[in-house]
Amino acid sequence: MKEESLKRKQEIQTPKGKLGVLIPGIGGAVSTTLIAGTELVRQGLGEPIGSLTQLGTIRLGKRFEHRSPKIKEFVPLANLEDIVFAGWDLYEANGYEASLYARVLNREHLDPIKGFLSEIKPMKAAFDRKFVRNLDGSYIKEEKSLRQLVEAIKEDMEAFKSQNGIERCVMVWCGSTEIYSEASDIYQSSQTLYEALEHNDPRIPPSMIYALAALESGIPFVNGAPNLTVDVPAMIQLAQEKGVPIAGKDFKTGQTLMKTILAPGLKARALGLEGWFSTNILGNRDGLVLDDKDSFKTKEESKLSVLEYILQPQLYPTLYKNYFHKVTINYYPPRGDNKEGWDCIDIYGWLGYPMQIKVDFLCRDSILAAPLILDLVLFMDLAQRVGMSGIQEWLSFYFKSPMHKEGLYPEHDLFIQSMKLKNTLRYLMGEEQITHFGLDYYLNEKQE
Ligand SMILES: NC(=O)c1ccc[n+]([C@@H]2O[C@H](COP(=O)([O-])OP(=O)(O)OC[C@H]3O[C@@H](n4cnc5c(N)ncnc54)[C@H](O)[C@@H]3O)[C@@H](O)[C@H]2O)c1
Repeated sequence: MKEESLKRKQEIQTPKGKLGVLIPGIGGAVSTTLIAGTELVRQGLGEPIGSLTQLGTIRLGKRFEHRSPKIKEFVPLANLEDIVFAGWDLYEANGYEASLYARVLNREHLDPIKGFLSEIKPMKAAFDRKFVRNLDGSYIKEEKSLRQLVEAIKEDMEAFKSQNGIERCVMVWCGSTEIYSEASDIYQSSQTLYEALEHNDPRIPPSMIYALAALESGIPFVNGAPNLTVDVPAMIQLAQEKGVPIAGKDFKTGQTLMKTILAPGLKARALGLEGWFSTNILGNRDGLVLDDKDSFKTKEESKLSVLEYILQPQLYPTLYKNYFHKVTINYYPPRGDNKEGWDCIDIYGWLGYPMQIKVDFLCRDSILAAPLILDLVLFMDLAQRVGMSGIQEWLSFYFKSPMHKEGLYPEHDLFIQSMKLKNTLRYLMGEEQITHFGLDYYLNEKQE
Protein backbone atom coordinates (compact mmCIF):
# COMPACT_ATOMS: atom_id res chain seq x y z
CA MET A 1 0.00 0.00 0.00
CA LYS A 2 1.33 3.45 -0.87
CA GLU A 3 2.12 5.73 2.03
CA GLU A 4 -0.14 8.35 0.51
CA SER A 5 -3.14 6.06 0.94
CA LEU A 6 -2.50 5.94 4.68
CA LYS A 7 -3.42 9.58 5.07
CA ARG A 8 -6.94 10.68 5.57
CA LYS A 9 -7.73 14.02 4.06
CA GLN A 10 -11.26 14.52 5.20
CA GLU A 11 -11.92 17.40 7.59
CA ILE A 12 -13.16 16.34 11.01
CA GLN A 13 -15.65 18.73 12.45
CA THR A 14 -15.21 20.22 15.87
CA PRO A 15 -17.66 18.49 18.21
CA LYS A 16 -20.63 20.62 19.15
CA GLY A 17 -23.10 20.20 21.99
CA LYS A 18 -23.16 17.96 25.02
CA LEU A 19 -21.69 14.48 25.22
CA GLY A 20 -23.58 12.02 27.43
CA VAL A 21 -21.53 9.36 29.24
CA LEU A 22 -23.79 6.44 30.12
CA ILE A 23 -22.41 4.07 32.74
CA PRO A 24 -23.83 0.73 33.85
CA GLY A 25 -22.29 0.44 37.34
CA ILE A 26 -22.36 4.19 38.01
CA GLY A 27 -22.17 3.69 41.77
CA GLY A 28 -18.90 1.76 41.66
CA ALA A 29 -15.41 2.77 42.68
CA VAL A 30 -14.14 3.35 39.17
CA SER A 31 -17.20 5.30 37.97
CA THR A 32 -17.41 7.60 40.97
CA THR A 33 -13.67 8.31 40.75
CA LEU A 34 -14.09 9.20 37.08
CA ILE A 35 -17.10 11.43 37.68
CA ALA A 36 -15.72 13.25 40.70
CA GLY A 37 -12.33 13.62 39.04
CA THR A 38 -13.79 15.08 35.86
CA GLU A 39 -15.73 17.66 37.87
CA LEU A 40 -12.67 18.53 39.99
CA VAL A 41 -10.63 19.07 36.82
CA ARG A 42 -13.41 21.19 35.32
CA GLN A 43 -13.40 23.36 38.43
CA GLY A 44 -9.63 23.67 38.44
CA LEU A 45 -9.38 21.67 41.67
CA GLY A 46 -7.35 18.76 40.32
CA GLU A 47 -5.13 17.65 37.44
CA PRO A 48 -6.11 14.90 34.98
CA ILE A 49 -2.99 12.83 35.65
CA GLY A 50 -2.88 9.62 33.67
CA SER A 51 -5.02 10.92 30.81
CA LEU A 52 -3.40 10.94 27.40
CA THR A 53 -6.14 13.08 25.89
CA GLN A 54 -5.66 15.78 28.50
CA LEU A 55 -1.89 15.76 29.05
CA GLY A 56 -0.33 13.75 26.21
CA THR A 57 1.46 15.17 23.20
CA ILE A 58 2.00 13.72 19.75
CA ARG A 59 5.06 14.15 17.59
CA LEU A 60 4.35 15.12 13.98
CA GLY A 61 6.65 15.06 10.98
CA LYS A 62 10.43 14.77 11.15
CA ARG A 63 12.37 15.17 14.38
CA PHE A 64 13.97 18.43 13.24
CA GLU A 65 10.53 20.01 12.76
CA HIS A 66 9.91 20.10 16.52
CA ARG A 67 6.15 19.74 16.12
CA SER A 68 4.63 18.10 19.20
CA PRO A 69 1.18 19.51 19.90
CA LYS A 70 -0.99 18.34 22.74
CA ILE A 71 -3.28 15.55 21.58
CA LYS A 72 -6.37 17.53 22.53
CA GLU A 73 -5.16 20.42 20.38
CA PHE A 74 -4.34 18.12 17.45
CA VAL A 75 -7.56 16.09 17.21
CA PRO A 76 -11.02 17.61 17.67
CA LEU A 77 -12.13 16.02 20.94
CA ALA A 78 -15.11 16.97 23.05
CA ASN A 79 -14.40 19.40 25.91
CA LEU A 80 -14.68 18.19 29.48
CA GLU A 81 -17.20 21.00 30.06
CA ASP A 82 -19.57 19.32 27.59
CA ILE A 83 -19.63 15.94 29.38
CA VAL A 84 -22.78 14.93 31.26
CA PHE A 85 -22.87 11.68 33.26
CA ALA A 86 -25.74 9.26 33.82
CA GLY A 87 -26.05 5.56 34.51
CA TRP A 88 -27.49 2.58 36.28
CA ASP A 89 -26.76 0.69 39.47
CA LEU A 90 -28.44 -1.83 41.73
CA TYR A 91 -27.69 0.38 44.73
CA GLU A 92 -29.66 3.61 44.96
CA ALA A 93 -26.88 5.68 46.55
CA ASN A 94 -26.28 9.01 44.83
CA GLY A 95 -22.84 9.98 43.49
CA TYR A 96 -21.72 11.54 46.76
CA GLU A 97 -22.82 8.62 48.94
CA ALA A 98 -21.36 6.11 46.50
CA SER A 99 -18.03 8.00 46.42
CA LEU A 100 -17.83 7.92 50.21
CA TYR A 101 -18.60 4.20 50.17
CA ALA A 102 -15.88 3.58 47.57
CA ARG A 103 -13.24 5.20 49.83
CA VAL A 104 -11.05 6.16 46.90
CA LEU A 105 -11.15 9.96 47.10
CA ASN A 106 -11.03 11.72 50.43
CA ARG A 107 -13.39 14.40 51.70
CA GLU A 108 -10.97 17.12 50.79
CA HIS A 109 -11.81 16.25 47.18
CA LEU A 110 -15.43 15.19 47.62
CA ASP A 111 -16.86 17.94 49.82
CA PRO A 112 -16.25 20.86 47.43
CA ILE A 113 -18.31 19.04 44.79
CA LYS A 114 -20.88 17.48 47.11
CA GLY A 115 -23.78 19.32 45.40
CA PHE A 116 -22.74 18.11 41.95
CA LEU A 117 -22.21 14.51 43.07
CA SER A 118 -25.47 14.35 45.04
CA GLU A 119 -27.33 15.13 41.81
CA ILE A 120 -25.94 11.99 40.13
CA LYS A 121 -28.77 9.57 40.80
CA PRO A 122 -28.59 6.10 39.32
CA MET A 123 -31.35 4.61 37.23
CA LYS A 124 -32.61 1.15 38.14
CA ALA A 125 -30.30 -1.61 36.91
CA ALA A 126 -30.94 -4.47 34.55
CA PHE A 127 -29.52 -7.10 36.86
CA ASP A 128 -29.59 -10.84 37.37
CA ARG A 129 -27.84 -12.20 40.43
CA LYS A 130 -27.02 -15.39 38.59
CA PHE A 131 -24.22 -13.46 36.85
CA VAL A 132 -22.81 -11.60 39.87
CA ARG A 133 -23.48 -13.72 42.92
CA ASN A 134 -21.81 -11.65 45.63
CA LEU A 135 -24.01 -8.56 45.22
CA ASP A 136 -27.42 -8.09 46.83
CA GLY A 137 -28.68 -4.64 45.70
CA SER A 138 -32.40 -4.28 45.10
CA TYR A 139 -32.65 -1.19 42.89
CA ILE A 140 -33.52 -3.34 39.90
CA LYS A 141 -35.83 -3.08 36.90
CA GLU A 142 -38.93 -5.20 37.06
CA GLU A 143 -39.43 -5.88 33.36
CA LYS A 144 -39.88 -9.61 32.83
CA SER A 145 -38.55 -10.32 29.35
CA LEU A 146 -35.07 -9.58 28.05
CA ARG A 147 -36.47 -7.59 25.12
CA GLN A 148 -38.47 -5.45 27.57
CA LEU A 149 -35.27 -4.80 29.49
CA VAL A 150 -33.45 -3.66 26.35
CA GLU A 151 -36.35 -1.32 25.59
CA ALA A 152 -36.38 0.00 29.17
CA ILE A 153 -32.68 0.90 28.94
CA LYS A 154 -33.30 2.60 25.61
CA GLU A 155 -36.12 4.63 27.15
CA ASP A 156 -33.83 5.65 30.03
CA MET A 157 -31.28 6.89 27.52
CA GLU A 158 -33.84 8.79 25.47
CA ALA A 159 -35.21 10.50 28.57
CA PHE A 160 -31.68 11.44 29.70
CA LYS A 161 -30.87 12.85 26.27
CA SER A 162 -33.97 14.97 25.98
CA GLN A 163 -33.88 16.23 29.59
CA ASN A 164 -30.25 17.33 29.27
CA GLY A 165 -30.13 18.41 25.63
CA ILE A 166 -27.51 15.76 24.79
CA GLU A 167 -26.16 15.61 21.22
CA ARG A 168 -24.10 12.40 21.35
CA CYS A 169 -23.48 9.57 23.83
CA VAL A 170 -20.92 6.90 24.68
CA MET A 171 -21.72 3.94 26.96
CA VAL A 172 -19.01 2.43 29.19
CA TRP A 173 -19.62 -0.79 31.13
CA CYS A 174 -18.14 -0.17 34.59
CA GLY A 175 -20.37 -2.80 36.19
CA SER A 176 -19.09 -5.76 38.15
CA THR A 177 -17.34 -8.67 36.46
CA GLU A 178 -19.93 -11.22 35.43
CA ILE A 179 -19.30 -14.94 35.79
CA TYR A 180 -17.27 -16.72 33.15
CA SER A 181 -19.17 -17.71 30.04
CA GLU A 182 -17.98 -19.85 27.18
CA ALA A 183 -18.34 -18.52 23.65
CA SER A 184 -21.76 -20.06 22.97
CA ASP A 185 -23.50 -20.75 19.65
CA ILE A 186 -26.13 -18.11 20.46
CA TYR A 187 -23.40 -15.46 20.12
CA GLN A 188 -22.45 -16.54 16.60
CA SER A 189 -24.47 -14.00 14.62
CA SER A 190 -26.81 -11.11 15.29
CA GLN A 191 -29.64 -13.37 14.11
CA THR A 192 -28.89 -16.15 16.62
CA LEU A 193 -28.47 -13.60 19.38
CA TYR A 194 -31.79 -11.97 18.59
CA GLU A 195 -33.53 -15.34 18.50
CA ALA A 196 -32.04 -16.13 21.90
CA LEU A 197 -33.15 -12.74 23.20
CA GLU A 198 -36.74 -13.32 22.08
CA HIS A 199 -36.68 -16.70 23.91
CA ASN A 200 -35.27 -15.14 27.10
CA ASP A 201 -32.23 -17.37 26.84
CA PRO A 202 -30.61 -17.62 30.30
CA ARG A 203 -27.15 -17.31 28.75
CA ILE A 204 -27.66 -13.62 27.94
CA PRO A 205 -26.13 -11.58 30.79
CA PRO A 206 -27.20 -8.05 31.78
CA SER A 207 -24.04 -6.52 30.25
CA MET A 208 -25.31 -7.73 26.85
CA ILE A 209 -28.69 -6.13 27.50
CA TYR A 210 -27.04 -2.74 27.95
CA ALA A 211 -24.79 -3.33 24.93
CA LEU A 212 -27.76 -4.20 22.74
CA ALA A 213 -29.61 -1.10 23.89
CA ALA A 214 -26.55 1.02 23.06
CA LEU A 215 -25.89 -0.51 19.64
CA GLU A 216 -29.55 -0.37 18.64
CA SER A 217 -29.51 3.32 19.60
CA GLY A 218 -26.32 4.01 17.60
CA ILE A 219 -24.28 4.62 20.78
CA PRO A 220 -20.62 3.50 20.95
CA PHE A 221 -19.99 0.86 23.62
CA VAL A 222 -16.86 0.29 25.72
CA ASN A 223 -16.44 -2.76 27.92
CA GLY A 224 -14.27 -2.09 30.97
CA ALA A 225 -14.71 -5.55 32.51
CA PRO A 226 -13.45 -8.93 31.29
CA ASN A 227 -16.91 -10.41 30.57
CA LEU A 228 -17.45 -11.09 26.85
CA THR A 229 -20.33 -8.65 26.26
CA VAL A 230 -19.46 -7.15 22.84
CA ASP A 231 -16.52 -9.48 22.19
CA VAL A 232 -18.62 -12.04 20.34
CA PRO A 233 -19.30 -12.34 16.59
CA ALA A 234 -22.97 -11.37 17.01
CA MET A 235 -22.19 -8.03 18.63
CA ILE A 236 -19.29 -7.28 16.28
CA GLN A 237 -21.62 -7.90 13.36
CA LEU A 238 -24.33 -5.75 14.89
CA ALA A 239 -21.88 -2.91 15.55
CA GLN A 240 -20.84 -2.99 11.91
CA GLU A 241 -24.42 -3.15 10.68
CA LYS A 242 -25.37 -0.18 12.84
CA GLY A 243 -22.15 1.71 12.07
CA VAL A 244 -21.21 1.96 15.74
CA PRO A 245 -17.71 1.67 17.27
CA ILE A 246 -17.10 -0.87 20.04
CA ALA A 247 -14.04 -1.43 22.24
CA GLY A 248 -12.91 -3.68 25.07
CA LYS A 249 -12.20 -5.46 27.18
CA ASP A 250 -11.07 -5.06 30.80
CA PHE A 251 -9.29 -1.81 31.64
CA LYS A 252 -5.53 -2.26 31.78
CA THR A 253 -4.55 -0.83 35.15
CA GLY A 254 -2.31 -2.09 38.02
CA GLN A 255 -0.53 -5.38 37.68
CA THR A 256 -1.27 -6.07 34.03
CA LEU A 257 -0.09 -2.59 33.11
CA MET A 258 3.24 -3.40 34.77
CA LYS A 259 3.35 -6.77 33.03
CA THR A 260 2.88 -5.23 29.60
CA ILE A 261 5.62 -2.70 30.37
CA LEU A 262 8.16 -5.24 31.69
CA ALA A 263 7.59 -8.27 29.46
CA PRO A 264 8.29 -6.45 26.15
CA GLY A 265 11.55 -5.21 27.67
CA LEU A 266 12.66 -8.72 28.63
CA LYS A 267 11.79 -10.02 25.19
CA ALA A 268 13.48 -7.11 23.41
CA ARG A 269 16.74 -8.04 25.21
CA ALA A 270 16.25 -11.79 24.60
CA LEU A 271 16.19 -12.62 28.31
CA GLY A 272 14.51 -15.89 29.26
CA LEU A 273 11.59 -16.37 31.61
CA GLU A 274 11.21 -19.32 33.96
CA GLY A 275 8.21 -18.15 35.91
CA TRP A 276 6.00 -15.19 36.74
CA PHE A 277 3.99 -15.39 39.93
CA SER A 278 1.48 -12.57 40.43
CA THR A 279 -0.72 -12.10 43.43
CA ASN A 280 -2.97 -9.30 44.62
CA ILE A 281 -4.80 -8.27 47.73
CA LEU A 282 -7.68 -5.85 47.42
CA GLY A 283 -10.66 -5.02 49.57
CA ASN A 284 -13.17 -3.10 47.49
CA ARG A 285 -16.49 -4.30 46.07
CA ASP A 286 -14.70 -5.48 42.93
CA GLY A 287 -12.52 -7.65 45.20
CA LEU A 288 -15.64 -9.04 46.84
CA VAL A 289 -17.16 -9.92 43.45
CA LEU A 290 -13.89 -11.52 42.32
CA ASP A 291 -13.91 -13.63 45.47
CA ASP A 292 -16.52 -15.72 43.66
CA LYS A 293 -14.56 -18.29 41.68
CA ASP A 294 -16.69 -17.96 38.53
CA SER A 295 -16.25 -14.18 38.37
CA PHE A 296 -12.54 -14.65 39.07
CA LYS A 297 -12.29 -17.14 36.22
CA THR A 298 -13.39 -14.39 33.81
CA LYS A 299 -10.69 -12.11 35.23
CA GLU A 300 -8.07 -14.85 35.27
CA GLU A 301 -8.52 -15.59 31.57
CA SER A 302 -8.04 -11.91 30.88
CA LYS A 303 -4.92 -11.58 33.02
CA LEU A 304 -3.20 -14.78 31.91
CA SER A 305 -3.23 -14.38 28.14
CA VAL A 306 -1.09 -11.24 28.19
CA LEU A 307 2.33 -12.91 28.55
CA GLU A 308 1.65 -15.62 26.01
CA TYR A 309 1.04 -13.07 23.26
CA ILE A 310 3.89 -10.76 24.20
CA LEU A 311 6.52 -13.46 24.63
CA GLN A 312 5.50 -15.67 21.67
CA PRO A 313 7.01 -18.94 22.98
CA GLN A 314 6.44 -20.58 19.59
CA LEU A 315 8.96 -18.16 18.08
CA TYR A 316 11.34 -18.15 21.08
CA PRO A 317 11.38 -21.72 22.46
CA THR A 318 14.81 -21.28 24.12
CA LEU A 319 13.54 -18.33 26.13
CA TYR A 320 9.85 -18.90 26.79
CA LYS A 321 8.83 -22.48 26.07
CA ASN A 322 8.01 -23.65 29.57
CA TYR A 323 7.57 -20.63 31.79
CA PHE A 324 5.15 -20.96 34.70
CA HIS A 325 2.54 -18.20 35.02
CA LYS A 326 0.16 -17.90 37.94
CA VAL A 327 -2.22 -15.07 38.90
CA THR A 328 -4.30 -14.88 42.06
CA ILE A 329 -6.54 -12.24 43.61
CA ASN A 330 -7.33 -12.31 47.31
CA TYR A 331 -10.16 -10.35 48.89
CA TYR A 332 -8.73 -8.54 51.90
CA PRO A 333 -11.11 -5.82 53.20
CA PRO A 334 -8.60 -3.66 55.15
CA ARG A 335 -6.84 -2.70 51.94
CA GLY A 336 -9.96 -1.20 50.31
CA ASP A 337 -9.37 0.16 46.81
CA ASN A 338 -5.63 0.50 47.47
CA LYS A 339 -4.60 -2.80 46.05
CA GLU A 340 -1.21 -4.37 46.57
CA GLY A 341 0.09 -6.42 43.67
CA TRP A 342 3.21 -8.54 43.99
CA ASP A 343 5.12 -10.02 41.10
CA CYS A 344 7.87 -12.51 41.56
CA ILE A 345 9.64 -12.90 38.22
CA ASP A 346 12.27 -15.55 37.62
CA ILE A 347 14.33 -14.76 34.56
CA TYR A 348 17.57 -16.12 33.11
CA GLY A 349 20.39 -14.63 31.09
CA TRP A 350 23.62 -15.59 29.30
CA LEU A 351 24.19 -19.37 29.52
CA GLY A 352 20.99 -19.75 31.50
CA TYR A 353 22.13 -18.08 34.74
CA PRO A 354 19.07 -17.26 36.86
CA MET A 355 18.06 -13.81 38.13
CA GLN A 356 15.02 -12.47 39.95
CA ILE A 357 12.89 -9.36 39.72
CA LYS A 358 10.40 -8.44 42.46
CA VAL A 359 7.69 -5.87 41.93
CA ASP A 360 5.53 -4.65 44.77
CA PHE A 361 3.04 -2.23 43.29
CA LEU A 362 1.07 -0.39 45.94
CA CYS A 363 -1.40 0.95 43.47
CA ARG A 364 -4.80 2.55 43.53
CA ASP A 365 -6.99 0.75 41.05
CA SER A 366 -9.61 3.38 40.46
CA ILE A 367 -7.05 6.20 40.34
CA LEU A 368 -5.44 4.31 37.45
CA ALA A 369 -8.72 3.39 35.78
CA ALA A 370 -10.49 6.79 35.79
CA PRO A 371 -8.22 8.55 33.26
CA LEU A 372 -8.46 5.55 30.92
CA ILE A 373 -12.24 5.85 30.86
CA LEU A 374 -12.10 9.57 30.16
CA ASP A 375 -9.76 8.94 27.22
CA LEU A 376 -11.90 6.09 25.92
CA VAL A 377 -15.03 8.22 26.04
CA LEU A 378 -13.38 11.03 24.10
CA PHE A 379 -11.72 8.74 21.55
CA MET A 380 -14.87 6.66 21.00
CA ASP A 381 -16.84 9.84 20.41
CA LEU A 382 -14.16 10.88 17.90
CA ALA A 383 -14.35 7.46 16.21
CA GLN A 384 -18.11 7.78 15.91
CA ARG A 385 -17.86 11.26 14.40
CA VAL A 386 -15.34 10.16 11.76
CA GLY A 387 -17.51 7.19 10.81
CA MET A 388 -15.40 4.34 12.25
CA SER A 389 -17.41 1.31 13.29
CA GLY A 390 -16.94 -2.17 14.73
CA ILE A 391 -13.81 -3.08 16.76
CA GLN A 392 -11.55 -0.14 17.56
CA GLU A 393 -8.28 -2.04 17.83
CA TRP A 394 -6.28 1.20 17.96
CA LEU A 395 -7.59 1.59 21.52
CA SER A 396 -5.92 -1.69 22.65
CA PHE A 397 -3.64 0.53 24.75
CA TYR A 398 -6.37 0.72 27.37
CA PHE A 399 -7.30 -2.95 27.72
CA LYS A 400 -6.05 -6.16 29.29
CA SER A 401 -7.72 -8.28 26.61
CA PRO A 402 -7.87 -6.09 23.53
CA MET A 403 -10.58 -6.99 21.04
CA HIS A 404 -9.23 -7.83 17.61
CA LYS A 405 -10.37 -9.01 14.22
CA GLU A 406 -10.74 -12.72 13.72
CA GLY A 407 -7.51 -14.20 12.38
CA LEU A 408 -5.31 -11.58 14.03
CA TYR A 409 -3.70 -12.01 17.41
CA PRO A 410 -4.15 -9.25 20.00
CA GLU A 411 -1.34 -6.77 20.51
CA HIS A 412 -0.47 -6.50 24.22
CA ASP A 413 2.85 -4.68 24.19
CA LEU A 414 2.11 -1.25 25.69
CA PHE A 415 4.63 0.51 23.47
CA ILE A 416 3.30 -0.99 20.25
CA GLN A 417 -0.20 -0.15 21.46
CA SER A 418 0.84 3.45 22.05
CA MET A 419 2.32 3.70 18.53
CA LYS A 420 -0.82 2.16 17.08
CA LEU A 421 -2.97 4.73 18.86
CA LYS A 422 -0.87 7.73 17.89
CA ASN A 423 -0.48 6.57 14.28
CA THR A 424 -4.25 6.26 14.05
CA LEU A 425 -4.62 9.86 15.21
CA ARG A 426 -2.01 10.95 12.65
CA TYR A 427 -3.88 9.03 9.98
CA LEU A 428 -7.19 10.63 10.93
CA MET A 429 -5.65 14.09 10.72
CA GLY A 430 -3.84 13.51 7.40
CA GLU A 431 -0.33 13.44 8.93
CA GLU A 432 2.53 11.04 8.09
CA GLN A 433 2.70 7.79 10.07
CA ILE A 434 5.79 7.68 12.27
CA THR A 435 7.69 4.40 12.07
CA HIS A 436 10.77 5.45 14.09
CA PHE A 437 12.86 4.14 11.21
CA GLY A 438 15.39 6.95 11.64
CA LEU A 439 17.90 5.86 9.03
CA ASP A 440 16.24 8.21 6.57
CA TYR A 441 17.86 11.20 8.30
CA TYR A 442 21.31 9.75 7.62
CA LEU A 443 20.56 8.43 4.12
CA ASN A 444 19.32 11.83 3.01
CA GLU A 445 22.49 13.42 4.39
CA LYS A 446 24.64 11.19 2.14
CA GLN A 447 22.62 12.10 -0.92
CA GLU A 448 22.98 15.83 -0.30
N1 LIG B 1 -10.40 -0.64 39.00
C1 LIG B 1 -9.67 -1.16 38.05
O1 LIG B 1 -8.48 -0.93 37.97
C2 LIG B 1 -10.29 -2.06 37.04
C3 LIG B 1 -9.47 -2.56 36.06
C4 LIG B 1 -10.02 -3.38 35.11
C5 LIG B 1 -11.35 -3.67 35.13
N2 LIG B 1 -12.12 -3.20 36.13
C6 LIG B 1 -13.51 -3.61 36.12
O2 LIG B 1 -14.33 -2.47 36.17
C7 LIG B 1 -15.55 -2.85 36.82
C8 LIG B 1 -15.82 -1.84 37.91
O3 LIG B 1 -14.82 -1.90 38.92
P1 LIG B 1 -15.06 -1.20 40.32
O4 LIG B 1 -13.81 -1.34 41.10
O5 LIG B 1 -15.67 0.13 40.13
O6 LIG B 1 -16.14 -2.19 40.95
P2 LIG B 1 -17.35 -1.84 41.92
O7 LIG B 1 -17.79 -3.14 42.47
O8 LIG B 1 -16.96 -0.75 42.87
O9 LIG B 1 -18.43 -1.24 40.94
C9 LIG B 1 -19.22 -2.00 40.11
C10 LIG B 1 -20.63 -1.46 40.22
O10 LIG B 1 -21.41 -2.11 39.23
C11 LIG B 1 -22.69 -2.31 39.78
N3 LIG B 1 -23.35 -3.32 38.95
C12 LIG B 1 -23.11 -4.64 38.87
N4 LIG B 1 -23.93 -5.22 37.96
C13 LIG B 1 -24.67 -4.22 37.43
C14 LIG B 1 -25.69 -4.19 36.45
N5 LIG B 1 -26.10 -5.29 35.83
N6 LIG B 1 -26.24 -2.98 36.15
C15 LIG B 1 -25.83 -1.84 36.77
N7 LIG B 1 -24.89 -1.83 37.74
C16 LIG B 1 -24.31 -3.00 38.05
C17 LIG B 1 -22.42 -2.69 41.22
O11 LIG B 1 -23.54 -2.50 42.04
C18 LIG B 1 -21.28 -1.72 41.56
O12 LIG B 1 -21.75 -0.51 42.09
C19 LIG B 1 -15.36 -4.27 37.33
O13 LIG B 1 -15.93 -5.18 36.44
C20 LIG B 1 -13.87 -4.41 37.34
O14 LIG B 1 -13.45 -5.76 37.22
C21 LIG B 1 -11.64 -2.38 37.09
